[in-house]
Amino acid sequence: DSPDSLKPRAPVVTIMGHVDHGKTSLLDAIRKTNVTGGEAGGITQHIGAYHVKTGRGEIVFLDTPGHEAFTTMRKRGAQVTDIVILVVAADDGVMDQTREAVSHAKAAQVPIVVAVNKIDKEGSNPDRVMRELSDLGLVPEAWGGETIFANVSAKQHTGLDELLEMVLLQAEVLQLQANPDKPGRGHVVEAKLDKGRGPVGTVLISEGTIRQSDSFVCGMVHGKIRAMFTDQGQKIQEAGPSTPVEIQGFDTIAEAGDEFVVVADDKVAKRIASIRLGK
Ligand code: GTP
Ligand code: NA
Ligand code: MG
Repeated sequence: DSPDSLKPRAPVVTIMGHVDHGKTSLLDAIRKTNVTGGEAGGITQHIGAYHVKTGRGEIVFLDTPGHEAFTTMRKRGAQVTDIVILVVAADDGVMDQTREAVSHAKAAQVPIVVAVNKIDKEGSNPDRVMRELSDLGLVPEAWGGETIFANVSAKQHTGLDELLEMVLLQAEVLQLQANPDKPGRGHVVEAKLDKGRGPVGTVLISEGTIRQSDSFVCGMVHGKIRAMFTDQGQKIQEAGPSTPVEIQGFDTIAEAGDEFVVVADDKVAKRIASIRLGK
């Protein structure tokens, strides 16, 4: 891609952290406080990823918190996460899975933004969390290091705007870009068999643009985009970089981590899939 074909794209974020430190609560709180206009009654379809719009830009969240999803995808060669939000409960401090999450993110060379959660709780001690994470090499900016910390309460919805701002700040440093003007590709973040609609999959577009009726290969599966929907359930005709989109038209069920690639036509799609199947 020539430099001037590259356009800024939204950061893709995974939330990681120790059990019960508030990963799901934080995802829910961010989603609830950033409900976009078109969303009927604040009800979001679950498609495995969603985006939020802030005054300063968009952020895409992968909806499967935890390091298992992160490492499964990575093992399959799919590095879709740009930034990890590490959730640490301020009353509990750094625990086993906090350390694991840090080492996974480091191995993948994905920058970490720390969300010190549950600051509403009695006995919470954000300073201790900063000390403990410093010992793991995550030294807060306030102490001369490079790691961004934000104090939040997922329960009381406090500090969320600041956290999102910190994520976008980190994203700016990364200068995330992609070329939207070529055939689309991306990765499956979730796939299932829908009773009425057949095999569906949520694909996070990494580069290019996918369009209605495009033929594609996805791992050993092929298909043609029959219909696609945003995380808000809105039917769309095309989707560009960093857009999570639910697609109908898979031949069979794909797998999380599969690479999704638009190809010239049906014939090519079928041929590639059958070669991959060893037929
Ligand atoms: P697992 O998915 O099981 O690892 O847990 P999790 O990290 O997703 O944590 P979850 O969001 O399920 O929260 C665990 C418990 O902590 C729940 O009882 C939440 O209500 C509570 N909790 C989460 N965030 C906060 C917070 O900011 N303050 C307080 N007081 N409680 C919180
Ligand atoms: Na829990
Ligand atoms: Mg959870």
